Amino acid sequence: MADSDVDEYQKRWEASWNAGLKPGERFDACQSSPALLDLLKRGTVAVEGKRVFVPGCGRGYDPVTFIKAGAKEAIGLELAPSATPAANEYIAAQSVDTSKCYVETGDFFKWKDPAGFDVGYDYTFLCAMHPTMREDWAKAWHGHLSPGGKLITLIFPINPAADPGPPWYIHADMCKELLIPAGTAVDFVTKGGGDKKGPQRLEFRPITDKEASLRVEVESPFRSLRIIVLGFCIASAGIGSLFSLVYILKDGPDAWKNLGINAGVVAVAAWLLRRDLKARGTAVNRVMREGQLGACEVQLQNGRRLRLADLRGSARVVIMVGTREQVEAAVGAAEPFRERLQAAGVLLVPAAIYDQGSGTSDGAAPQASAADLKWVAQPVRLAEWRTWFEQQTKSQGTPTAGGLYISLRLDGRIRASGRGSPPWEQLAAQLPSVSGFFGGFLDGMDGRV
Ligand SMILES: C[S@@+](CC[C@H](N)C(=O)[O-])C[C@H]1O[C@@H](n2cnc3c(N)ncnc32)[C@H](O)[C@@H]1O
Repeated sequence: MADSDVDEYQKRWEASWNAGLKPGERFDACQSSPALLDLLKRGTVAVEGKRVFVPGCGRGYDPVTFIKAGAKEAIGLELAPSATPAANEYIAAQSVDTSKCYVETGDFFKWKDPAGFDVGYDYTFLCAMHPTMREDWAKAWHGHLSPGGKLITLIFPINPAADPGPPWYIHADMCKELLIPAGTAVDFVTKGGGDKKGPQRLEFRPITDKEASLRVEVESPFRSLRIIVLGFCIASAGIGSLFSLVYILKDGPDAWKNLGINAGVVAVAAWLLRRDLKARGTAVNRVMREGQLGACEVQLQNGRRLRLADLRGSARVVIMVGTREQVEAAVGAAEPFRERLQAAGVLLVPAAIYDQGSGTSDGAAPQASAADLKWVAQPVRLAEWRTWFEQQTKSQGTPTAGGLYISLRLDGRIRASGRGSPPWEQLAAQLPSVSGFFGGFLDGMDGRV
């Protein structure tokens, strides 16, 4: 949609409100969705003390609902200037603090609250956007939420036959497809009655550093203990050094020895601490990277779509990335080792995300025959795969020419990565079979499996 068409499209909202849209008319339901009231009543969504944002809030029923449920602030946003006074009039009549609950006029795609929001609520808003605005919608949501913030969307059961909208047909998977590449992870999806019976609730949230740190701590519990002990050593040897300095002034050269010992302890402990902190930082980045990769989806032979994370414990995924020709060549190169690799639970994922030359193709994954699909899974929603790989290659300055590969361990962690085709012969020789009793049992013990 050209910019001028977007403007034209958006002007229609003002026309509706300006014409004097009355409570109960068109999309105005005179109240919040019963599904939202239910979520808040049950405490499934906790908003106490939180800042809540409701774009496209219409007459403002939802900001009032959130403030009454204990939100610290509930701010609505309306594109249509005529909707804002109607909403603020309604809010003022609800006996709530209007300095904490109000509606502003602004465009969701441009307006920005500098503090960010803890909770976002999207209800009959995405479906009101023209389909060409959806990617921007996902990016804008990511920008409106603070780190750790949550977006709740209630997907109203819109009939696909109703297209063209508004309202436009939307569904839960579509939200995932939009939000994940924009950097927002799907936390959980609840179907409150499904498409036909009632709204679906989706909750999305970005992966937080804190969660990644917790995972790293579970993986390496002694490192945290060591960091504390080393910090303690530095502090006590530092204090000892200060005392030694005082004694040098008082007792003369005899105190030099103590000073030397204390300074030595500080230096060694500081070096060890720095090493541990660096290792912890690297591990946190790795966990975040792996978490994001785990959200990418593949389609299996039986048509089932799974996230890579769902394959943990059952497959050793090897991802090949490049142009269609490169990934097809990499799949072909695995053929002589197929039996051994299959016994080791290897699952190939050829992701043709780069067009030759441009590096930004939207080309679909290469088609595999039914027999091939037994060991080749097709990546779905290549945009998510591309986003992940582009982030990694850019941040590490890895050239993408010639293709790349990443092999994952059974537990989903990255085992190895490199340029070109995966080293199939080496993988076939190294990976243990998953069929025996000990298959998978020793995974990770050598740090490479
Ligand atoms: C279908 S109505 C839903 C209203 C409200 N959620 C409700 O349930 O009563 C969509 C609303 O979004 C507003 N809107 C559309 N585009 C917007 C934008 N870019 N920024 C903010 N509000 C927008 C429209 O003015 C309209 O009131």
